Amino acid sequence: MSGRISWLVTGAGGQLGSELVALLRAEDEHVVAATRAELDVTGDGVADVLRDWARTAHGRPVVLNAAAWTNVDAAEAEPDAAAAANVDGPTRLATACDELSATLVHVSTDYVFPGVVDPGSAPRPYEVDDPVGPRTVYGATKEAGERAVRERARRHYIVRTAWVYGAVGGNFVKTIAALRHRRDTLDVVADQIGGPTWAPDLAAGLVELARSDAPHGTYHCTGAGQASWFELARAVFDEVGADPERIRPCDTAAFPRPAPRPAYSVLSGRSWSAAGLSVQPHWRDALRSAFESSRSSLDTPI
Ligand SMILES: NC(=O)c1ccc[n+]([C@@H]2O[C@H](COP(=O)([O-])OP(=O)(O)OC[C@H]3O[C@@H](n4cnc5c(N)ncnc54)[C@H](OP(=O)(O)O)[C@@H]3O)[C@@H](O)[C@H]2O)c1
Repeated sequence: MSGRISWLVTGAGGQLGSELVALLRAEDEHVVAATRAELDVTGDGVADVLRDWARTAHGRPVVLNAAAWTNVDAAEAEPDAAAAANVDGPTRLATACDELSATLVHVSTDYVFPGVVDPGSAPRPYEVDDPVGPRTVYGATKEAGERAVRERARRHYIVRTAWVYGAVGGNFVKTIAALRHRRDTLDVVADQIGGPTWAPDLAAGLVELARSDAPHGTYHCTGAGQASWFELARAVFDEVGADPERIRPCDTAAFPRPAPRPAYSVLSGRSWSAAGLSVQPHWRDALRSAFESSRSSLDTPI
């Protein structure tokens, strides 16, 4: 779809939000970057803020919702707070976007799926229309947020992603890089498989989607290929010049967590490609590029 777009990014201080803002500013786009302090998506003021923004917008209005409660374990103990950000927030944004005929690009997660592997069966990547079945509070709130967006905003894109790491904020890649200074060996789970996703690549995908003629609906966007946390950790060590053999495989049982983790939550990019959107780089190539472009941010003591 051609024509100028006016962008509003919520959660602009987060891993993904900050990359969306950086990308759009680099392209000289008109973007309002709303951090949590500037726009709490759970607040009564959401509709007014969006109305004011749309009134002065020079172009088709698009809201990129990168605001969310993302602490999977803490959500188990604080379900109401998680639901506020992940259900109430998207509900307010979707309602306001619909009233303004704005497009809402809402980001969701692999955790909407069960991620359970039946013994003896080979798992396959989840398609966008596979049945959901979250097993965590975080996943349940994100799934409810998806439904709210689907029901309320005619012009919506729901984009599920996974295993996001960026230059801003904490993430697995940074933690593993830092731990090489503190531990001789590291045990990392090898029986959870997913799709590592470099936040700037995801940001580029979301912007491409919003600019496209792709039908409104639900999509998946992650780094191509699949990896275990163990494989990802070894690849990180490789990038920082540490011996990958120092990373040892272990089972999920070795790291009990408040929220169960998916054993297999690879997301199929079939509907993304079918809509003519650019396939994301393979996760291993993306990790290499990430360290080339952002080594000082990814390789810092934590
Ligand atoms: N990270 C992953 O591995 C991953 C995987 C799958 C899907 N996702 C999805 O990807 C999206 C972006 O995640 P991310 O990795 O960028 O997470 P993030 O770094 O935690 O960023 C989320 C941002 O949302 C803000 N926020 C929280 N509550 C808010 C509220 N009520 N109003 C406005 N802003 C609020 C946070 O602010 P504070 O920091 O001040 O709380 C933070 O800046 C989310 O929808 C997430 O569910 C992420």
